[in-house]
Amino acid sequence: MGRYAEVHSQSINDPEGFWGKAAEEIDWYKKWDKVLDGSNAPFYRWFVGGELNTCYNAVDRHVERGRADQPAIIYDSPVTNTVRKITYGEFQDLTAKFGGALRSLGVEKGDRVIIYMPMVPEALVAMLGCARIGAIHSVVFGGFAPNELATRINDAKPKVIVSASCGIEGAKVIPYKPMLDGAIDQAEHKVDGTIVMQRPQAEAPLKPGFDHDWTEITGKAEPADCVPVAATDPLYILYTSGTTGNPKGIVRDNGGHAVAMKYTMKNFYNCDPGEVFWAASDVGWVVGHSYIVYAPLLHGATTVVFEGKPVGTPDAGTFWRVISQHKIPTMFTAPTAFRAIKREDPNAELMKSYDLSHFRALFLAGERSDPDTIKWAENNLKVPVIDHWWQTETAWVIAGNPLGTELFPVKYGSACKPGFGWDIHAVGPDGHDVPAGDVGSLVAKLPMPPGTLMTLWQADDRCRKAYFDEFPGFYMTGDAGFVDEDGYVHVMTRVDDVINVAGHRLSTGGMEEILSAHPDVAEAAVIGAADELKGQMPVGFIVLKSGVSKSHSDVCAECVKMVREQIGAVAAFKTCTVVDRLPKTRSGKVLRGTMKKIADSEEFKMPATIDDPVILDEIREALQKVGYAGVKAA
Ligand code: COA
Ligand code: AMP
Repeated sequence: MGRYAEVHSQSINDPEGFWGKAAEEIDWYKKWDKVLDGSNAPFYRWFVGGELNTCYNAVDRHVERGRADQPAIIYDSPVTNTVRKITYGEFQDLTAKFGGALRSLGVEKGDRVIIYMPMVPEALVAMLGCARIGAIHSVVFGGFAPNELATRINDAKPKVIVSASCGIEGAKVIPYKPMLDGAIDQAEHKVDGTIVMQRPQAEAPLKPGFDHDWTEITGKAEPADCVPVAATDPLYILYTSGTTGNPKGIVRDNGGHAVAMKYTMKNFYNCDPGEVFWAASDVGWVVGHSYIVYAPLLHGATTVVFEGKPVGTPDAGTFWRVISQHKIPTMFTAPTAFRAIKREDPNAELMKSYDLSHFRALFLAGERSDPDTIKWAENNLKVPVIDHWWQTETAWVIAGNPLGTELFPVKYGSACKPGFGWDIHAVGPDGHDVPAGDVGSLVAKLPMPPGTLMTLWQADDRCRKAYFDEFPGFYMTGDAGFVDEDGYVHVMTRVDDVINVAGHRLSTGGMEEILSAHPDVAEAAVIGAADELKGQMPVGFIVLKSGVSKSHSDVCAECVKMVREQIGAVAAFKTCTVVDRLPKTRSGKVLRGTMKKIADSEEFKMPATIDDPVILDEIREALQKVGYAGVKAA
């Protein structure tokens, strides 16, 4: 039996023994009474009775054990021409002061704090400052509009919001404060105040008594110690797109999360304490939570906070510059970033001027890695390029090539083997396994390993319905795919309305709700059409109400503006087209899957239940006018 087979079968057959041992790598104030509690299935709980503090494990213990002078964070910001290192010792002081600042505003254990920040080290200080005092953070990605932020404020009901005066997106300075103010005004839940980090690129006016300047409030704060919390207390809520415009608040625990994060660093990524680990993502996404913040720090590694883009800051060689300058052996990003680099520098000329001899492995996730991108990266970097599959719900890898345990031959288009503690099946509508190689719904047998979602914030029922009801005894991932005869998992597509734009997860249902609210629109459909750079791009179809005299292009432009204002720039909703009718089944279900196939010039079977097949020709024509359905390829 190979090393992976041995470890994986232990993790499945004896989860308590396996994760109980892994938990010894974490420092506990009080040891758990039970490793796994299944008494309230499907809501499993890990390390019940245990007490720990995630910030202590990620920061303080490293200071106590000789890492005080090692950088915890390297902040590399080509957009501000800054490289700043923060040692573990300094980081401990910063989180203690920030925890104290939160306390001075009345934040205590169990209270929520929303963090709406760009990629600056202060975002990590704020997250760990919350963890230090047992407050629950909820980071909202900076590219979301005030309306999305307001939805999260209403759901999480935070006492305080932490933000910065602006973000910097390539050459653009984006003031955050007006968006923050807009969201606070719009939200029904009223927060007690804000803490704002002023950035010289665009300082923000602060309302006395409500907005607190970061430097001032932390300057006078009493440093806070780490407080013990229960292993099962929430560490954070992270909202993600679901099947409607209402985001789902994924709740993460402290204990199981710390154990799983620490375990993956060596056993999956093959990273050692003291090494530099770089996840080029954003703290607003789960990849950022797990592999910019928690896992590298729990492991005593150095993490990189990169404020830039793969291209244009200043060029397509910026990743190679960062890897070489900070001697980074392992990096993690989304395939779209590599597609952007490949498009600008197809022969990787810019790579040649940097010393990458210490670079060991590239990990890709967030969307399916297309074989061309993997091969390009392999040929140029000459190191293992590892696609791995995971989700906001899971916090870490569901399937991937476990470099730190055993490296398997690559099968292009597959995310490789199930991760530790993951028992993955492709099932049919009856819940039974489909034959190896056949596409089914990808599900995980319960219990899932530690660190995975506890529930949805104050919505156990919604959680059950979304993930556990359809296939009792299993977690439904929402992805479809197959497991082949060698046990490799292939993730093909979503089973719901979620699309993936530049590694960002978005709900087409949410966009449709916005389009349908336009006064001239009778009904709307949004699909994710294939895009060479971003993987998918949303394309909107609107049917106008009768008697609308406005020009089609004006209505479309207004719709584009509405989505940008209500979801945010991150939705990248730029294409909208007017059609006379939407293709539907006889029972009235819009045939989005067929529309997508037409957009992508894929063959499709005429749906047997289609109401009127002629509409599909009209859809094809409309798509061709906006550059899809074979027009681009021609
Ligand atoms: N704050 C404010 N606005 C933001 C933002 C932030 N944190 N992040 C993105 N935006 C804006 C962008 O400025 C852009 O606005 P625009 O329409 O005015 O140009 C829009 O949101 C879309 O951004 P993005 O998806 O990043 O597209 P891009 O065209 O600027 O860059 C890539 C394309 C491929 C270079 C970029 O998406 C990328 O680097 N992706 C890496 C993948 C990644 O980090 N995935 C996370 C999960 S692992
Ligand atoms: P998010 O929750 O934003 O991380 O998005 C999770 C979704 O992204 C998954 O459900 C998949 O649809 C998709 N995804 C992430 N990683 C991969 C991968 N390696 N291969 C295929 N799809 C992926």
